[in-house]
Amino acid sequence: MAIHHLDGQTRVVGIFGDPIAHTRSPAMHNAAFRARALPYVYVPFLVHPADLPKAVQSIRALHLIGVNVTVPHKERIIPYLDTLSVEAKLCGAVNTVVNRHGTLIGENTDGRGFLASLRERGLSPRRREIVLIGAGGAARAVLVSLVRAGSARIIVANRTLANAEALVRTYCSLGNTQLESVPLDRLQDPTLLRTATLVVNCTSVGLHNEDFPPLAYAATPRNCLFYDLLYQPTLTSFLRQARAARRPVIDGRRMLLHQGALAFSLWTRTPAPLTVMARALNHTLRSQAG
Ligand code: ATR
Repeated sequence: MAIHHLDGQTRVVGIFGDPIAHTRSPAMHNAAFRARALPYVYVPFLVHPADLPKAVQSIRALHLIGVNVTVPHKERIIPYLDTLSVEAKLCGAVNTVVNRHGTLIGENTDGRGFLASLRERGLSPRRREIVLIGAGGAARAVLVSLVRAGSARIIVANRTLANAEALVRTYCSLGNTQLESVPLDRLQDPTLLRTATLVVNCTSVGLHNEDFPPLAYAATPRNCLFYDLLYQPTLTSFLRQARAARRPVIDGRRMLLHQGALAFSLWTRTPAPLTVMARALNHTLRSQAG
């Protein structure tokens, strides 16, 4: 990959994670910086959990523009930051840090990125019924964004019912959305899916090409959108089965793109070059798959 022209003016943006070798973000952001002729470079940093406080301190010491934050630091980083955005506070997780003259602001662009990907498909979750599968960090960010967007009802289905119940309990008074929790196997029952506009897989099932548990795909309305947050592989068992039932599908690439675009705008205070970022993302995913 072509590296930027680096000189004394170059500023650094990074990503903290462990592991980090799989990250797609450098390709996306470096393409964006080049397209906007910004003197920035985006670098992956392997940060072990025990080193996180020192790594955060280095954002200030090295005058980094900011960082993205990924597994396993999204929640643990919070005590080391100076302020949090509303979304980060609500999710209890940070995926983007902005360094404003030594003050570190924790942001979370995952939920807004998710909503942006729905918007570009012409789907507004307002007053809609949604089935959310999973109860981990990804499900939390999506649930918060859907409640804030005014969804009518969200059914959280999860393998471990207690985790779905805990999620629903946490956010039951956030908005006017009716929240329910069910065990994952209840989604074999057509009645729960009959009025769904959107079914989102927020679990890791499919990451290693595993089969997705049975679900009454054909019971959903014909235009119900099946959304898998996973972006590799792009056609998971969940989406394959939805396609076989002739339902529209979307994979996690557009959410990844939009959360990145929002982070780019926070760091640079300029609109993100979305097409350039999408092309770079697809290119890096294709080269990995091939
Ligand atoms: P993330 O932060 O990416 O959301 P996570 O917090 O580890 O990851 O959550 C993973 C989600 O995938 C959980 O909802 C988990 O279900 P449990 O709460 O029952 O653990 C779900 N998940 C993982 N493996 C699964 C499997 N084989 N079958 C069904 N659900 C699974």
